[in-house]
Amino acid sequence: MSKEKAFEQEFENKIENEIKIEPRDWMPEKYRENLIRQISQHAHSEVVGMLPEANWITRAPSLRRKVALLAKVQDEAGHGLYLYSATETLGARREDTVDDLHEGRAKYSNIFNYPSVTWADIGVIGWLVDGAAIQNQVMLTRTSYGPYSRAMVRICKEESFHQRQGYEIVLHMAKGTPEQKEMAQDALNRWWWPSLMMFGPSDKDSKHSQQSLAWKIKRQGNDELRQEFIDKTVPQAKYAGLTIPDPDLKWNEEKGVHDFGEIDWSEFMNVIKGNGPMNRSRIKARKAAKENGAWVREAATAYHEKKMKRAQQKQSAA
Ligand code: 3HC
Repeated sequence: MSKEKAFEQEFENKIENEIKIEPRDWMPEKYRENLIRQISQHAHSEVVGMLPEANWITRAPSLRRKVALLAKVQDEAGHGLYLYSATETLGARREDTVDDLHEGRAKYSNIFNYPSVTWADIGVIGWLVDGAAIQNQVMLTRTSYGPYSRAMVRICKEESFHQRQGYEIVLHMAKGTPEQKEMAQDALNRWWWPSLMMFGPSDKDSKHSQQSLAWKIKRQGNDELRQEFIDKTVPQAKYAGLTIPDPDLKWNEEKGVHDFGEIDWSEFMNVIKGNGPMNRSRIKARKAAKENGAWVREAATAYHEKKMKRAQQKQSAA
């Protein structure tokens, strides 16, 4: 058996036996590329995902809500950093990865291209968007790549707080004044379908699912995760006294799941191609953040270089 074949066999055995693939392990180039693609886009989603919520930190209706939202947005920044670090363990350069986002070469989750127009949106984002993210990320704690799996374990611990604080806002408004309930229903109407799209196209149309499932990067397909999310969320909407904007949504006793209406995949494709309501402003904000933060990076680099130089001088003097 050739050396390459032996490496391939060892890789397959590890996947088969649930042994995590670590950065220094041999891996197929396509495995590495697929991981850099998915993890970098996951990181971009976390960082861009800060924007719709940051918009409401100064407008939160109470100090308690402001503190919770501030903590959530800071968590998302940390999630982005964990995930950018995971891409670096695969040989990706942080600078290039961030440029891919800014130059439109990389995607981020469709969901962050919609505007957060009222405070109820902040509740529904936590409830649905973080709820969908949890559905996906709990599955990813079992992904075959070690650093990604471990990052997911840490991230999931914080996501549950994100979802709970969102659902608490929704319940407060849905059980509040008629105007508050109307705002909560309006937000649910606008965020429901884009949240279902977060799980990606149907498996039959998914470019990556088959290979990602074979390599145990994904442990469940897009449709299965979407269905689990719907089945979990319908009772929560009912408890809040809100109506899910899908006239075809109904319990299917035989299958034990909720049947639901057709997703508008043309909207999804349009948004991920860059034509959503907020795509341009999201990228503009990210580019501005990079420019405005340049002085911090330069100062940190100068400090690090000076420290290294001092250590070298000390070493040569010893
Ligand atoms: N938004 C944007 N693009 C999407 C998408 C979405 N919701 N779903 C799929 N796509 C893209 C894929 O990236 C792929 O395009 P590419 O080849 O250019 O990368 C194409 O559509 C085909 O989709 P596939 O289903 O074949 O792609 P994947 O196998 O990668 O599955 C995924 C898509 C399920 C999103 C998978 O990438 C994944 O699990 N990613 C990690 C989780 C993630 O990124 N979550 C985003 C939300 S993070 C978040 O919500 C933060 C929270 O704290 C609020």
